[in-house]
Amino acid sequence: MSDDWSESAQAWIADQGELGDFSRQFVLDAAMLKRVEGRGFANALDVGCGEGRFCRMLNARGIPAVGIDPTLALLQTARERDPEGDYREGRAEALAFEDASFDLVVSYLTLIDIPDIGKAIPEMARVLRPGGTLLIANINSFISACADVTWVRGADGSYLHYPVDNYLDERSMWVSWRGIRLKNWHRPLSTYMSLLIAQNLALTWFDEPAPHGGDPSHAERYRRAPWHMVMEWRKP
Ligand SMILES: C[S@@+](CC[C@H](N)C(=O)[O-])C[C@H]1O[C@@H](n2cnc3c(N)ncnc32)[C@H](O)[C@@H]1O
Repeated sequence: MSDDWSESAQAWIADQGELGDFSRQFVLDAAMLKRVEGRGFANALDVGCGEGRFCRMLNARGIPAVGIDPTLALLQTARERDPEGDYREGRAEALAFEDASFDLVVSYLTLIDIPDIGKAIPEMARVLRPGGTLLIANINSFISACADVTWVRGADGSYLHYPVDNYLDERSMWVSWRGIRLKNWHRPLSTYMSLLIAQNLALTWFDEPAPHGGDPSHAERYRRAPWHMVMEWRKP
């Protein structure tokens, strides 16, 4: 069980609401759904499914999804919100599935939460079928480098810039917002890319989606700093 996540689970659920937070509602959901719709995926695994929002979206599109997560309070909410769904306790580092079980494996803003990425990425590749797709949304490494500092502000409170520092130093850090306190991992982009390439996966899509709605002053921050990336990797 992930202790810091357990302590923040209720605040997280409240913060996400039904539609997800700003990142999900106004940036990532549309970009992620575009990558799955109409592709004929027979099934999916959502690694770190949280309270199950993206599994519900996949199920609604006719893609039966299994969600795994180590945080029991989040799994409980996922099951309450989707009693027909399939939500299981599990960790990315040791996926309890046979090799080649899924057409689609999703990591939706979980790579920065997973402590042992050197085990998790091979596991995600292992459970994919040949020809299957690993779809990743992650916080950009240029942002995670300073997630504990965030925006530098002017004397009038205006946002000046988002600093990047100690970029090449892999590390964990505590981050807090709206009653949530979690340990996130910063890793340079090359760490993720090297692990994915080492699995013989081929990068077939890369995007840094722009916000498409929401409060304009909030959206502006997502244009100024390189917040998110979406990648799709195919198993040969
Ligand atoms: C930022 S949340 C994202 C949840 C969900 N994918 C979403 O987008 O709403 C990160 C999730 O990763 C989960 N997590 C933490 N450590 C994990 C691990 N080792 N393996 C799998 N999931 C993990 C947490 O419990 C949490 O649900």
